[in-house]
Amino acid sequence: MANVITYGTFDFFHEGHRNILRRAKEIAGKDGRLFVGVTSENYDRERGKLNVCQDLQTRMRQVQDSGFADEVFVEEYEGQKIEDMRRYSIDKFVIGDDWAGKYDYLGEWCEVVYLPRTKGVSSTGIRNDSTRLLHGGIVGSGRIAGRFVVESRFVSGVVFDAVFNPRKSSADNFAANHGLKGSFDDFDKMLGEVDLVYVATPHVNHAEYVRCALKAGKHVLCEKPLTLSAQEAKELYALAEKNGVVLQEALKTAFAPGFKHLVNLAKGGLIGQIRQVRATFTKLMTDKTLREFDKAQGGGAVSELLSYVLCPTIKLLGRQIDPRKVDFNLIKDEECEVETFASGMIKYDGATALLTVGLTAKDEGCLSIAGTKGYIWVPSPWWKTEYFEIRNDMGQPTRRFFFLFAGDGLRYELAEFVKRISMGVDNKTWSSEDSIESLRIIEFIR
Ligand code: CTP
Repeated sequence: MANVITYGTFDFFHEGHRNILRRAKEIAGKDGRLFVGVTSENYDRERGKLNVCQDLQTRMRQVQDSGFADEVFVEEYEGQKIEDMRRYSIDKFVIGDDWAGKYDYLGEWCEVVYLPRTKGVSSTGIRNDSTRLLHGGIVGSGRIAGRFVVESRFVSGVVFDAVFNPRKSSADNFAANHGLKGSFDDFDKMLGEVDLVYVATPHVNHAEYVRCALKAGKHVLCEKPLTLSAQEAKELYALAEKNGVVLQEALKTAFAPGFKHLVNLAKGGLIGQIRQVRATFTKLMTDKTLREFDKAQGGGAVSELLSYVLCPTIKLLGRQIDPRKVDFNLIKDEECEVETFASGMIKYDGATALLTVGLTAKDEGCLSIAGTKGYIWVPSPWWKTEYFEIRNDMGQPTRRFFFLFAGDGLRYELAEFVKRISMGVDNKTWSSEDSIESLRIIEFIR
């Protein structure tokens, strides 16, 4: 008789999982107990497992339904295993031999047993079968496109192997620099070769490429702002739905694990009723020849950056903003044809959003959310949410939250996009309604 513990993600519960739980239960014996830790979504993301498909509840239920586990609990953080050993008075730690050696350090607390892994089956294999590798093409070959290709290599189930630019030499250079097989100056030709596209052209061209790709039945991930007109965005989302494909606005902050957690906590009432969202995103750009300063290319602080600060506004205070309650001051540097700084407020019933964006003047880039029971403070750069605090300054200790925001963070929006395509997962993270509302406000302010 022994108390035995084991851990896993248990995504798409399969024969290998059943076998290891059965053998672990045999080791526990008739009177022993088997404890099974199932990794939380957040912990999986932190350890780089971005492709887990089933939610935590489903994975825990499957382990429970196997009939071998006496207790199923959540594994939430690195280092939890040692705590669990003590909490459950564990005699033996059991894990598949794909982890051989990795958990020897637990030998200080209990016996460590590596069991042979069942051959020929894995969650990764099941995911890849059910998802067939998707082929993607990049539209545009500028700065963000390059960063995106690098990030895409961290997401499974998709490979970007083509690029389009109307200037063939630019497409060729990009393809050569990033090791892509296909380089196109004919958009329709590239569409014929791919399942999906990532649109990273100047804003003014987004709608045209997105419409063309959707008409061809391709899924589209498009840089923000999706369009400069909310009506056009509405039409594009409707077209995507009609053609049974996914259209997603690539607003990286919305998909960042830390930001998603912050939204859940705030919406869950942890700081009471939200009275104010204050968000700032400013840069000091000196090269005025860049697209950001070009009116013809849809430049300006509002089209470049307002999507970011509208993200916490819309997620926390809601949609249906009354344009009469939007008041912004747009400021231009003398030599510029677009606004280079913008700040203002959006009044809701019972709450206010105070938002600042800028391309040529700098302010502290923090996000602060005021509530009736305390406030959430996210230091700069809050749009890459790695850390935030919940404070109330009323004697209760500050709660601190840490998250991973790996690389450029574009992998998170892509991982969710791929999941939506492959698994039909619903997009509540940054829905078409959220996106349209944000674009409506951007259009109004511009
Ligand atoms: N396991 C096993 N035999 C398999 C697959 C998994 O014995 N064919 C064991 C693992 O060694 C681990 C437990 O099942 O002890 C949970 O593994 P998990 O990582 O959830 O499953 P995998 O199929 O390995 O998942 P992935 O492909 O995502 O790595």
